[in-house]
Amino acid sequence: MRVRVEGMSFSYDSYEVLNDVTLDIEPCKVTCVIGPNGAGKTTLLKVIASILKPTKGTVYLDFKDLRLYNPKEIARIIAYSEPNISKSIPVKVLDLIITARYPFQGNTQFFEDPNDLRIVDEVCRELNITYLLNKRLDQVSSGELQRVLIATALVKNPKVLLLDEPSAFLDIRYRFEVLRYVKEVTTKYGLTTVVALHDLQLASMFCDEIVLMDRGRIVKYGTVNEVLTSDVIKDVYGVDVEVITLSDNSLVIIPKPR
Ligand SMILES: Nc1ncnc2c1ncn2[C@@H]1O[C@H](COP(=O)(O)OP(=O)(O)OP(=O)(O)O)[C@@H](O)[C@H]1O
Ligand SMILES: [Mg+2]
Repeated sequence: MRVRVEGMSFSYDSYEVLNDVTLDIEPCKVTCVIGPNGAGKTTLLKVIASILKPTKGTVYLDFKDLRLYNPKEIARIIAYSEPNISKSIPVKVLDLIITARYPFQGNTQFFEDPNDLRIVDEVCRELNITYLLNKRLDQVSSGELQRVLIATALVKNPKVLLLDEPSAFLDIRYRFEVLRYVKEVTTKYGLTTVVALHDLQLASMFCDEIVLMDRGRIVKYGTVNEVLTSDVIKDVYGVDVEVITLSDNSLVIIPKPR
């Protein structure tokens, strides 16, 4: 599904956070949104997810205005993983994950059908969280919770997958495994995937397109090799890095602290 953000602005009260953002996001690709703290990455994802209403501009899904979809349709199409869920919600991991299947159930259906359980089982095995299903949220670690939240988004089999800092709290193994799996399902099911990331090295390894934001605007949009240059990174983050291109065209990004 094609996502187009057109002339999008968003303000919290009078504080403008997104300023005239226009962006085309293609299916079957992982598009990564990077940028300094406060750049507007989370706000952009929440506007696309229809959680926040833009002050100006429009989001289109396959050329149709997002406002013309009803909430149940949006819940079936778009999955957004909220990075800051409270662990104190007294709910079991399995119950949280299964809730994400509700938009697919009929009005008279009160129990999960075998298809729901099959999808949950498959995703949980891929993210290695099956052993957590009977625990409560306050009984899992931060990295385990992160994988649970990503699973909650993936079990929807969404057409548009929005992940906000999915690598936060993950150890080196899961940082790679989770993004590898996200990339795999994106290609396999033709998802339109947008991931907000801080880790530029990870972004260079798993993303097809990079959107670089700063102060509510898009500074640069293009392939990994076009956006992740030492000049661009220095300009936006004010940090010196060395970007080495290997023979297979992959990048190694080495920070050079003063
Ligand atoms: N609920 C809110 N009320 C007022 N201002 C907010 C609110 N949420 C975010 N902001 C402000 O909007 C700006 C953009 O925030 P946003 O969360 O989109 O940034 P971000 O790029 O995701 O940052 P980070 O890398 O820290 O996650 C920030 O300056 C932030 O202070
Ligand atoms: Mg954010």
